[in-house]
Amino acid sequence: MQIVILTGAGISAESGLGTFRDKDGIWTRVNLEDVATPEGFARNPDMVHEFYNKRRSDLTTAKANPAHFALARLEQQIGQLAKRPADDSRFTLVTQNIDNLHQQAGSRSVIHMHGELLKGLCTNCDWRGEWSVDMQTDMPCPQCAHDGRIRPDVVWFGEMPYHMDEIFERLHSCDLFVSIGTSGSVYPAAMFVGEAKRAGAMTLELNLEPSENADEFNEGLYGPASEIVPAWVDKMIAASS
Ligand code: APR
Repeated sequence: MQIVILTGAGISAESGLGTFRDKDGIWTRVNLEDVATPEGFARNPDMVHEFYNKRRSDLTTAKANPAHFALARLEQQIGQLAKRPADDSRFTLVTQNIDNLHQQAGSRSVIHMHGELLKGLCTNCDWRGEWSVDMQTDMPCPQCAHDGRIRPDVVWFGEMPYHMDEIFERLHSCDLFVSIGTSGSVYPAAMFVGEAKRAGAMTLELNLEPSENADEFNEGLYGPASEIVPAWVDKMIAASS
């Protein structure tokens, strides 16, 4: 079977990392134009660094939850799932999350379409690399040594998400598309369900409540991710044995 999974902030909510648009979500407390746009960074880089430094430090204590572990288990079993021979099976995990909880749970290949909090990017020389400490405006780039050009390697509003060609190629050949813990209000991720459907895939949403584009899915299962994702994965694996 070829599966594409899309995850959003809801899968990490029970790990203690906030969502964005729920009641008390990050964007109800912080102005996204200030901290998640290139213009906001140009206006006040200190404020942007402070916002991401706090989120990076939250990651040091956040633990993957049963939903992350269940997806890692599904990836391991992909060759056993019915529908296609093992050598024509493919598991693709695309996340909008910038945390590292899928990797922590053992997922081997994760496509971070919105970048990663534990990476930095130099806007002078395009250096990209691991970054685990607080970021400050006057820090030099490890490659070109230019001061003041380091930023978190995350995709802001108005910027092009990463790996789009690869993601669309996977969507156009998948048998099943599953969206987990995302409000379906941010593009291009919100259009993935339509792309997969046009390619003939079955589509499923797993979320706390119906998302903004819930009516585009063939099916929806609702509840906390830590419960409904492992239950769904168990069902998929049992159905194939
Ligand atoms: N289990 C499952 N789903 C949950 C849970 C939970 N425990 N808690 C919340 N949710 C659901 C909410 O109902 C909501 O539909 O997760 C979704 C979170 O939606 P958003 O806060 O909008 O987060 P997301 O969809 O990931 O946002 C997309 O927007 O701000 C940008 O770049 C940021 O990647 C982010 C993108």
